[in-house]
Amino acid sequence: MDRSGIFAGENPFAIARTWLTEAEATEPNDPNAIALASVDPDGLPNVRMVLLKDIETEGEGGGAFVFYTNYGSAKGHELAASGKAAFVMHWKSLRRQVRVRGLVTREEGPPADAYYASRSLQSRLGAWASRQSEPLSSRGALMAEVAKVTALKGPNPPRPPFWGGFRIRPVEIEFWADGAFRLHDRFRWTRETMADPWKIARLNP
Ligand SMILES: Cc1cc2nc3c(=O)[nH]c(=O)nc-3n(C[C@H](O)[C@H](O)[C@H](O)COP(=O)(O)O)c2cc1C
Repeated sequence: MDRSGIFAGENPFAIARTWLTEAEATEPNDPNAIALASVDPDGLPNVRMVLLKDIETEGEGGGAFVFYTNYGSAKGHELAASGKAAFVMHWKSLRRQVRVRGLVTREEGPPADAYYASRSLQSRLGAWASRQSEPLSSRGALMAEVAKVTALKGPNPPRPPFWGGFRIRPVEIEFWADGAFRLHDRFRWTRETMADPWKIARLNP
């Protein structure tokens, strides 16, 4: 093991999980927040925070990262069009970062239904009411939409068809751990396709 806690031979999804678990104990808020990047049709990058809801350590491609959003949002359109995403997690308390680049697919099955059902009723109704990323005339208009869907959908709203998950299957994962005098530790897992084995390299800081 490297002194940064990175096992060079280990499953990178397991390392990411371990680091996130450690951050849950030290970060004041949202340790699972990631800055998610996409590109628009002109190739102009776009980035925003979302909450990482699952790190899968098994499955197709050996593992994946999952978050939830509105498919009609800017990110929803951009991810669907390019099929690619990148994100970074940074934990100030631990002085660590994880960078991921990969291919995206929608998660619209039972995991999306289960996560939607686990949210508070207000959040579930909010997902119905918000046309995320579209212009809104006033806060009052949004609250009126919430009242409308509350009356329409009742106490057990189904998951909206325009709301669900994205699963990111990485072709690259890099772990960065702070070192003294900026001599940081960096380890990068790369593969050409999901079917290839990972290549692991230590990088200059
Ligand atoms: C800490 C934090 C967590 C967020 N989590 C999510 C999330 O999980 N899903 C989501 O759709 N938006 C989330 N947002 C809002 C997004 O940053 C963004 O404003 C919204 O998704 C619209 O982005 P878009 O127009 O690029 O699609 C979060 C914002 C912050 C600051």
